[in-house]
Amino acid sequence: MDISKIQNLKNQAISAVLEAQSDDELERLRIAYLGRKGEITQLLKTIPSLSASEKKEIGQSINDAKKAIEQAIKDTKKSQQTQKIDFDQEWLDVTAPGKRPAVGHLHLVTETIEEITDIFEKIGFTRKTYPEVEWDWYSFGALNMPENHPARDDWETLYLDKLKHQKYGRAVLTPHTSSGQIREMEQQKPPIRMLNIAKCYRRQADVSHAPMFYQFETLVVDKDINITHLKGTLDYFARQYFGKDRKTRIRPFHFQFTEPSFEIDVTCIVCGGQGCPVCKDGWLELGGAGMVHPLVLKHGGIDPEKYSGFASGFGVERVLMMKYGLDDIRLLFNGDLRFLNQF
Ligand code: PHE
Repeated sequence: MDISKIQNLKNQAISAVLEAQSDDELERLRIAYLGRKGEITQLLKTIPSLSASEKKEIGQSINDAKKAIEQAIKDTKKSQQTQKIDFDQEWLDVTAPGKRPAVGHLHLVTETIEEITDIFEKIGFTRKTYPEVEWDWYSFGALNMPENHPARDDWETLYLDKLKHQKYGRAVLTPHTSSGQIREMEQQKPPIRMLNIAKCYRRQADVSHAPMFYQFETLVVDKDINITHLKGTLDYFARQYFGKDRKTRIRPFHFQFTEPSFEIDVTCIVCGGQGCPVCKDGWLELGGAGMVHPLVLKHGGIDPEKYSGFASGFGVERVLMMKYGLDDIRLLFNGDLRFLNQF
């Protein structure tokens, strides 16, 4: 008698037990292995005739096999019992309402992009997208910021080392959506009403700045476009997006690609414009805007003698945070469902 035979017998018995389909079958197996004439019982009977050293090892192993098979029979009976459905006891209410599967929704930033798109489409703007990796010319050069111009420093740009265009210069990750202005003018003759919403990249990271964020840019070019069109359009946006009581104001500023240039403020969401700790003087800054610089029109192939235009560029996350009173932009990017489910 050797140990491996005992092992094999044990394994064979256990696998038969696990596959047994009924109590009757389990009982048959119990008798075959552990009954009075069962295979394991026969082996147990040989123990007294073994030598002292064999007794210890082989005897032990036969006893182990016996216990293991008993246990397997017991466990199998139990698990079969829990699977068995007693149709007299159990019932199914087919009229009970089902469980709704969990349904997610679009991310807050995506929802905001769609909302902004709807607002501008209502007044005739067309949503466009332009390259996210752009040539220096479109991001800066054509916007009156030649190589080494100090105004470029405002855009903390990320450049791509290896990519360079002979005519258009280095490749950059678009630091603002204004690069779409020239692309649009090249593609579309006036009248132009462009809405360019795109990812922008800058070397920045704190509670109100992320290295990747979205901007939405408007560009209108037509005959006789003036500042009242700019003001009216941005007022309309502020009332639609923030609520009908909001007002905007334009404040002189400087950009290379617009003349005159402005920053646009909206009355504070918290205090309504009286002044509070959030806004101090009643106004919150929305973003930049201005009348398209004649040279920029020229770079886009449009005659500035015949046409004029305005442009604006606001941050998507910025307007969103202002609307909901959020104080940390990272909430929008870290995917925490406890935050996102609130919207
Ligand atoms: N591109 C500017 C920025 O990122 C905003 C802007 C857009 C200003 C259009 C004027 C006109 O700050």
